[in-house]
Amino acid sequence: MSTDRGKKSSSPTSSFVVVANRLAVDRIEHADGSTGWRTSPGGLVTALEPVMRANDGAWIGWHGAPDEKLRPFSSDGMQLVPVHLTSDEVRDYYEGLSNGTLWPLYHDAVEHPHFHREWWDAYVEVNERFAARAAEVAEPGAVVWVQDYQLQLVPQLLRQRRPDLRIGFFLHIPFPPLELFQQLPWRNQILEGLLGADLVGFQLPGGAQNFVRLVRQRLHLQTHRDRVRTADGRTVLARAYPISIDADSFHDLAASPAVEQRAKQIRHDLGDPTTMILGVDRLDYTKGLRQRIRAFGELVNEGRVDPEETVYVQVATPSRERVDQYRQLRDDIDMLVGRINGESGRIGRPPITYLHASYPRDEMAALYRAADIMVVTPLRDGMNLVAKEFIACRQDDSGALVLSEFAGAAKELRQAYLVNPYDINGLKERLLEAMTDSPRVHARRMRFLRKQVFENDIDRWASLFLDDLAGRS
Ligand code: ADP
Ligand code: F6P
Repeated sequence: MSTDRGKKSSSPTSSFVVVANRLAVDRIEHADGSTGWRTSPGGLVTALEPVMRANDGAWIGWHGAPDEKLRPFSSDGMQLVPVHLTSDEVRDYYEGLSNGTLWPLYHDAVEHPHFHREWWDAYVEVNERFAARAAEVAEPGAVVWVQDYQLQLVPQLLRQRRPDLRIGFFLHIPFPPLELFQQLPWRNQILEGLLGADLVGFQLPGGAQNFVRLVRQRLHLQTHRDRVRTADGRTVLARAYPISIDADSFHDLAASPAVEQRAKQIRHDLGDPTTMILGVDRLDYTKGLRQRIRAFGELVNEGRVDPEETVYVQVATPSRERVDQYRQLRDDIDMLVGRINGESGRIGRPPITYLHASYPRDEMAALYRAADIMVVTPLRDGMNLVAKEFIACRQDDSGALVLSEFAGAAKELRQAYLVNPYDINGLKERLLEAMTDSPRVHARRMRFLRKQVFENDIDRWASLFLDDLAGRS
């Protein structure tokens, strides 16, 4: 990670500003107490990094460590502007309202969302801080692009300070159905916060439609299709922009001789199996890990998958580890994997290789390249970039993607082996089908998937959004 903290700038200004909860890099503390940087976890950073490099803008965000104030600095050619959070704010704004209330609520309430007034107060305060920082950094008439559920009040707070700006907002996670959103004690404040933007972007058309219906019903504003007329006479556009990845750069990385060699080595270390199944996820309860591992375990137990021939590698990035539901998930997965491997009753390679760690991009590319079958089974997911990364790393039309119907990506990747992850028997059958279909069937599906991912890459996503934003007057 070439983070050049030597190149500090006291207060940069820019005509293009991205505001996100996280910066591209995350401050970490090593076991010996020294500190360093690594790429921040999650799809938002994967998607936005290439956009920032192409646009020469400033990125405002939290650097991942509590109680530490840092000056702006540059990293890999990006201008990064840190926003500090206290330990209490990390607890109440980040782990609390963002990830204990909004995250579960917006993901179909697959875990119970908690509502606490002190969490909300911290959310408002931190949103104000991000808005104030953006107001300082944005040049007159600048474009400011606010990201994701942690910062839904920023568009309005920023507009109050700087009406000259063109403000966009993009929600990376699903926008929930009306019945769920209405549970939020602060539902009107969130809608009003978002309406501070000129353009509000969602992953799928359904999310944009839910939002427009909500502002009509709850705020009694006039709407027409994807347009909302605000109380102060502005028109706000609400549209879908399915996010993507820098497909060419993933493909080229996977094509490099070093990654090719590493992919061979991975397969060799796994005992050169006939089939390598791969899962890659943040360790999050929305990702359907329990269901997926259970399905694979049953197939092994029933003798329908032979662990001599097939291995399943599950990579899980540590995530939000101080939030109870995430701790519980980690314990559950440890236990489930341990049980399946223990019950296989063999000496040698276990049926599941479980890696609870984060890896550099080239190692991820090698894993994708090595795998035959990718399993992506979220119970609900805004998009899921892992599915697109696997496809981009293919060097030919071989391999198969098993994909949940409830990932945003399923709307575009129709030729994947689509599955309902709640239906464990269905999941087992689909997995077997993906494993046993002929190379010809795989190639027919994969050709379509690759075309889809390379044609709709991150450049296209960013230009569609930014062109629409530029068209707002
Ligand atoms: P989310 O944003 O919910 O985490 P996505 O699938 O959209 O889900 O994005 C996850 C991103 O994190 C991908 O870019 C993926 O490559 C990356 N990632 C996932 N697991 C790991 C890991 N163990 N090490 C490094 N990067 C990872
Ligand atoms: O898009 C999903 C997302 O929640 C991003 O907003 C976030 O940066 C990423 O996943 C990882 O989560 P966290 O920042 O909480 O580690």
